[in-house]
Amino acid sequence: MSKLAALGGSPIRSVPYPGWPVHDERDVEAVTRVIRSGNWGGYPYPGPETAAFLRGFLEMQGGEYAIACVNGTVTMEIALRAAGVGWGDEVIVPAYTFQATAAAPVAAGAIPVIVDIDPETYCLDPRAVEAAITGRTRAVIPVHLGAQMADMDAIMDLAERHGLVVVEDCAHAHGAKWRGRGAGTIGHFGSFSLQSSKILTAGEGGVLICRTAELAQRAASIANCGRSHAPGGGPEGGNQFTMGGNYRMTELQAALGRVGLERFPEQARLREEMAGYADEAFSEVPGVRVLRRDPRHTTRSFYRYILAIDPATFGLEHDAVCYALEAEGIPCEAGYEAMHRYDLFQPGLSRLPVPSAFPERFRFDQMHLPEAERASEREAVWLDESVFRAGRRGVDDAVAALQKIYDQRQELVPRRSH
Ligand SMILES: Cc1ncc(COP(=O)(O)O)c(C=O)c1O
Repeated sequence: MSKLAALGGSPIRSVPYPGWPVHDERDVEAVTRVIRSGNWGGYPYPGPETAAFLRGFLEMQGGEYAIACVNGTVTMEIALRAAGVGWGDEVIVPAYTFQATAAAPVAAGAIPVIVDIDPETYCLDPRAVEAAITGRTRAVIPVHLGAQMADMDAIMDLAERHGLVVVEDCAHAHGAKWRGRGAGTIGHFGSFSLQSSKILTAGEGGVLICRTAELAQRAASIANCGRSHAPGGGPEGGNQFTMGGNYRMTELQAALGRVGLERFPEQARLREEMAGYADEAFSEVPGVRVLRRDPRHTTRSFYRYILAIDPATFGLEHDAVCYALEAEGIPCEAGYEAMHRYDLFQPGLSRLPVPSAFPERFRFDQMHLPEAERASEREAVWLDESVFRAGRRGVDDAVAALQKIYDQRQELVPRRSH
């Protein structure tokens, strides 16, 4: 076996994995069609491309009502506002997620209450949610992370017992299903990102699935400068403004999204098939833990495939393993920081209204969330989705690279000088 590529040896994989986003003449034609139509933007909302995109999206994901927005962050802010969550209310979010999951409640005037994750799935731990519920808790945002889904049965049970609004953050979970139901259709809202790295992309964009016609009507109004809308978020009903913003998706994005929807089923099938194969193959590598796949998570469709390495077995932490994997030609990253490690909401550092008004709720330095810290600081290895669009060889190369790093781990262990 050759030396580790990180130390000058030859890499396991010298052929690049397939690129993203995938595009062909259909995208060019779709954009050209919109340009020629002269109807480029998102007004009046929804335009014909946007309405067609939303119909296709709901067909793929399930659910009856949806609105199209500029990204998958404002979708969550809009969901909270449409549900009446606002100033000083508490919204429970997992500690292991992108900043958007906590930024959305702050933007809506609410306090994000950061709780720990389940170490077996890296998703929101329902026991931690229950322990964090107070008289001011109004909502919870489970995140379906990587290739996982949060335990939606337990979360919906808690939500029903405590009267909470559930906004599923499905930025990573297009096409995923829980007991046969589409991610984002189980809670009151499902928020999807179409940002360029996501597995269904329009460059930028977001979709918000809403459980009822009334919630969709309110969400459409908030997204469309406060104009009134028909129930379900259908055509505008006039210029009777309430408080909203311009969060509309453009027709150009919707046209790209429509082509993405045509490609999506085949891409999802490939990833799901190879991920099943990968679960077994990665489990054979010493010191590698495959996250638990809940049998209720009936269709997996994912953005990143997250593994946990055991730093004691490897003698290395995850960032060193990722560095060595990248050198071997395997695209990966060490993933998010734990939310309470981010500077961004700290009252001393920002003049944001919520942290400034409730500084006692943002004492991040006093928070200890051991599972999120372990995942984000030591264990998690996020493999890129492209690894799973390159057939068995794609997965075999990733497994061989991890095995190589394990076998030669001593070479990477930082040596103490004597
Ligand atoms: C978990 C999660 N939530 C929300 C978002 C926000 O999506 P967007 O970038 O479209 O605002 C992202 C992605 O960037 C994400 O990964």
